Amino acid sequence: MPTIKINDVALSVTPGTLVLDACRTVGIDIPHYCYHPALSPVATCRMCLVEIKGQPKLATSCTTTVPPAPKDNPEAVVMEVFTNTPAVADARAGVMEFLLINHPLDCPICDQAGECKLQDYSYHFGSGDSRMAEVKRRYRYEDLGAKIVIDKNRCIHCTRCVRFTREISGGGELTVASRGSHLEVTTFTGKSMDQNPFAGNVVDLCPVGALTSRDFRFRKRVWYLKSVPSISRHSALGNPIWIDHEGNQIHRLRPRPLADRETTHFISDEERQAYPRYNRAGKAPLPSLKGAPASPDAIREALQAAGPVAVIGQGTFGCDAAQRLGELASTPDLRYGSGDKTIPVVLPKYQTSADGILNRRGFTERGFRFGALEELLGKVQRAEVRAVVLLHDDAFTSLAERGVLAEILRLTPFSLALEVQPSDLGRAAAAWLPIASYAEESDFIVNHDGELRRYQKALQPPKGVRTVTAWAKDLAAVPATA
Ligand code: SF4
Ligand code: FES
Repeated sequence: MPTIKINDVALSVTPGTLVLDACRTVGIDIPHYCYHPALSPVATCRMCLVEIKGQPKLATSCTTTVPPAPKDNPEAVVMEVFTNTPAVADARAGVMEFLLINHPLDCPICDQAGECKLQDYSYHFGSGDSRMAEVKRRYRYEDLGAKIVIDKNRCIHCTRCVRFTREISGGGELTVASRGSHLEVTTFTGKSMDQNPFAGNVVDLCPVGALTSRDFRFRKRVWYLKSVPSISRHSALGNPIWIDHEGNQIHRLRPRPLADRETTHFISDEERQAYPRYNRAGKAPLPSLKGAPASPDAIREALQAAGPVAVIGQGTFGCDAAQRLGELASTPDLRYGSGDKTIPVVLPKYQTSADGILNRRGFTERGFRFGALEELLGKVQRAEVRAVVLLHDDAFTSLAERGVLAEILRLTPFSLALEVQPSDLGRAAAAWLPIASYAEESDFIVNHDGELRRYQKALQPPKGVRTVTAWAKDLAAVPATA
């Protein structure tokens, strides 16, 4: 591999590596706006300029690649890069001054404040001065449909958003219009971003506060939010996300890109908008038996006295939950999987599975059989199974599957449902226990590609609400009097 020197530090890199990435490997973060690993390079913002020995002008590190070494000297130093020279500092300060020419000083009301690249780079690399004596260009904010709002005054014309709609989501709703100081990012006439099921990503991509989410706009200052690594429950991909929360409420979900995994940069709007269902309102529901509040001990006794137990685990919960739940089954063949949600595949490159069941693989590995509920129904009808424990989330099951589950619960002498909130199906069970939502516990899943993905607890569950693992341990416990 060829060697390059960055500020006199030598390192071996693969030919073709971007200088910007090579700098990152030695801990030097090159400031950048238009560059994004998942988008085509355009080198328009000029913020990533570096000095390269032997080149007469500064070069954009987001488009300059490391050349191959000569064949007769594979270890040769092929490039010497400097990121800390006066020329680089001068260029960065100049670029910042240009980018801020028309930018308003509305940080106190801007949603991006606290995670804004203009703020950060201005602080680190800006000159602190502006020679702009003219009146700044002014636009009113515009709705780009119901999901996205654009404030063009803040735009620095990096075109990340435009490239996203052309290269990733494909709708091409956004474009750059006019020239010079009138340059603006806008939609083609009559188009909005409402039809784009991945529209929310433009908000994450915008390095300044020009594109904002209607949902999050003016709701929270980001420095109050705590970010917890989690995954999306939307599909079997288990996309990595951040749960941004405060006051035991989730305020935002965002993608959590993994290194060298381009598919983890973007999530669908449905995934992004899933958070309200994990925010609890009012008191947590209580354990119940035959429609009346009951103690967990009474439920355990009823289950243990019922006879052969089958478990139905919906594959939308974690592997620890699956393991513990599976142990409640009287025999290993009485572990059944449920959940038959599918998702529409809009971007095949990013959605490599249409399976809407997050942890189907993890449950299968723990002995749960999916698509076998009719078999269980037969066993219940023949009285080979006398009790059923159902782990369920109504959002991931079809009407048809719900019908089979309802029939199983109706015919089983004793049934127990474990749910976050009682559904119609859960209410039909003889007993019901409140479980923590996935945002209220830590566990892991095995996604469609066989990758282990962990998620961490973000919210505190209410008193009396426990994880599936905790309930399952209790339900399996031998009573003290036995
Ligand atoms: S709106 Fe944001 S992402 Fe789009 S060009 Fe302007 S600054 Fe870049
Ligand atoms: S990041 Fe390199 S020119 Fe914009």
